[in-house]
Amino acid sequence: GGFAVVVVAAGSGTRLGHGIPKALVPLDGRPLLEHALRGVAEAGIADRVFVTVPAGDVALSALARAHGAVPVTGGASRAASVRAALAVLERTGPECTGVLVHDAARCLTPPEVFRSVVRRVRSGERAVVPVLPVADTMRRVDEAGRSLGTVDRTVLRAVQTPQGFDLALLRAVDRAAAEAGTDPETVTDDASLVETHAPGVAVRTVPGHEHAFKITRPLDLVLAEAVLRGRAP
Ligand code: C5P
Repeated sequence: GGFAVVVVAAGSGTRLGHGIPKALVPLDGRPLLEHALRGVAEAGIADRVFVTVPAGDVALSALARAHGAVPVTGGASRAASVRAALAVLERTGPECTGVLVHDAARCLTPPEVFRSVVRRVRSGERAVVPVLPVADTMRRVDEAGRSLGTVDRTVLRAVQTPQGFDLALLRAVDRAAAEAGTDPETVTDDASLVETHAPGVAVRTVPGHEHAFKITRPLDLVLAEAVLRGRAP
């Protein structure tokens, strides 16, 4: 069976300070979403591509269509946007057996990361996430900011996207989260739904990539421009 890719791009991007949806923010003269969709295409793993866009958006929708992707109006949170895309995927054919959920904001993710996630799902893993070791020392704090001690960082990983799933599993855990009334604001990635609502299913990790960082703050754009310059032929 084929793979669908859901590129989530319905965020407001307020932390970037551009006053436009983050996925439209230009990077080397082209919107983040365009970089993200080129990355998906280059990976050569997608049978169908969906892009979640902010309500009322026209520019991102047009860009999605220009790249052969289907725009879907997103929700108030990332999880709500993923849910909206899953609903459209279900209503429209052809059926896929696997799905990748990818942040548009991780628009420089190399094709190898997409391919290695897909490979693991095809080989029978039902939930696969790319991860990297954490570089900083990590410390737990209480609500007042008082230190509760250092956390052993050797057992921690920073989570990236694309996250890959057996499509039936992602549908089931999304439905379970909706039925349980889980606050979508608290769901920051998709694999966490598997841990909560399908605790018997193992979430597997694969190596992520430094270039798959999420463009969130202005400094991330500076870094992204530098990465692109380094890639130029
Ligand atoms: O806000 P954050 O950086 O965690 O968003 C991660 C990704 O989820 C971004 O690519 C953003 O566009 C997407 N998102 C979405 N719908 C929302 C909020 C975020 O598709 N309501």
